[in-house]
Amino acid sequence: MRRWAAASNPAIREAFAAVDRRGFLTEHQQRFADDDRPLPIGHGQTNSQPTTVANMLALLDVLPGQRVLDVGAGSGWTTALLGHLVGPEGRVIGVELVPELAVWGAANVGRHPVPWATEQAAERDVLGRPAEGPYDRILVSAAPGGVPGELVDQLVLGGLMVIPVRSRMLTVRRQAEGPPEIHEHGSYSFVPLLRPHH
Ligand SMILES: C[S@@+](CC[C@H](N)C(=O)[O-])C[C@H]1O[C@@H](n2cnc3c(N)ncnc32)[C@H](O)[C@@H]1O
Repeated sequence: MRRWAAASNPAIREAFAAVDRRGFLTEHQQRFADDDRPLPIGHGQTNSQPTTVANMLALLDVLPGQRVLDVGAGSGWTTALLGHLVGPEGRVIGVELVPELAVWGAANVGRHPVPWATEQAAERDVLGRPAEGPYDRILVSAAPGGVPGELVDQLVLGGLMVIPVRSRMLTVRRQAEGPPEIHEHGSYSFVPLLRPHH
């Protein structure tokens, strides 16, 4: 058992066991798949560090049957992992800003037996995928300077988002009234969340 998977809860451990990271890396990087560090996937982007992914998934507290948005899907690894966590009654939509990565990531996800999880290219000028929301959970794997209101609006009431903001990992829960409830969960380093205009 790899260290990062051993540290997680049983459902997350099973997802890591079912989704081999190797299938979400370039051929050249595949030999480093067991290393607990981010690995380059081209276009200046990375497949995230496994312990970071495990920690984010633990914070996200995904349940079977939920509808999940994966912002910054990149290689598709997190989209496929989330697909395992939500199961066939759920739905996962991964969105990726770099069109070439979206095509490659979609093919990577497509090789896994989770047809309810897909990766798609980000739409011009649209952050997230409001047209297919709202979502029970939103995972964001790139860091904005503040909590984006557009993404909070894509959560159901009571829904939860995990997002790194200026290197602090945050959980953001949408409330029926008033501002979202926000908690901090330590420091992480992430590529910046870019504004989606091509
Ligand atoms: C850390 S990387 C990939 C993480 C991915 N979950 C994985 O493990 O392979 C974050 C990704 O976010 C993408 N990104 C940045 N801004 C974005 C935006 N506004 N919408 C969608 N994707 C975005 C980047 O292109 C990059 O591929």
